[in-house]
Amino acid sequence: MLGLFDSGVGGLSVLRAIRARHSDVLTWVIADQAHVPYGERPLEEIRQFALAQCRFLFEGGAEAVWMACNICSAVALEDARAIHGASAVQGVLQAGAQAAAKLSRTGRIGVLATDGTVRSGAYPSQIRRLRPDASVTTVACPEFVPLVEAGRLDGPQTTAAARRRLAPLIEAGCDVVVHGCTHYPFLEPALRSVWPPELPVRFVDPAQALARRLDPGLRRGSDPHTGTELFTTGDADRFRVQVEAFLGAQAEGVRRLCWNEGRLSVDPVPASDLVWARGA
Ligand code: DGL
Repeated sequence: MLGLFDSGVGGLSVLRAIRARHSDVLTWVIADQAHVPYGERPLEEIRQFALAQCRFLFEGGAEAVWMACNICSAVALEDARAIHGASAVQGVLQAGAQAAAKLSRTGRIGVLATDGTVRSGAYPSQIRRLRPDASVTTVACPEFVPLVEAGRLDGPQTTAAARRRLAPLIEAGCDVVVHGCTHYPFLEPALRSVWPPELPVRFVDPAQALARRLDPGLRRGSDPHTGTELFTTGDADRFRVQVEAFLGAQAEGVRRLCWNEGRLSVDPVPASDLVWARGA
């Protein structure tokens, strides 16, 4: 089983990338919606959230865990690897940095990210380690996560935010733009709509890069429609509606998780509410 976690619906863009290539991998997805957005929180607090989610997933039987969250990958990957093993934990940020360093022809790379990821400095340092000539422009986009969580993927407010945040990257002449937050791939149509057509650009979704490298040895489900179990620390009904809206998949139910003294546990629910997302 593969475990994923994020602060919210960002994990669904990673799930989408996995399901597109490996529809039969058993996957657990946590959305820590009790704490979304992570972006403006202290990095130490995010590190604690990330380590607790890793622990829950490994205790639940995960063979591997992906930090489907860039800030968590920036601040907690090394600690999680020290605890659970280097090959057992992967981060979307590291995959995104590698993909961008490889894809860019000019070395002018733009990264859209949350404030926390920008503060961590992880994208520029990872990209420059692989490609010392790169010129990396990072832009914090604090309004993007609330827009995505609210399902506002288009409309005047979203278009205006996309235009505002892309302006420095257009100005810098970037040929690659990284979705440095897993919520942002859902905004790609809005971002593309305001990018000047005469300036060639590739948008990088780090989850796609990670999905290409998925361990082929992970446990598979016999039925591709029963391979995903969904958890939220927020409102389970709301998350169910979000899964249906973002993935076009029917989520029959979502299990709620509770935080208690820094640890996660499953909210006791009747057995009939045990949930599998069909077609996710
Ligand atoms: N989706 C997360 C990321 O990739 C964090 C979003 C947030 O809660 O600020 O960084």
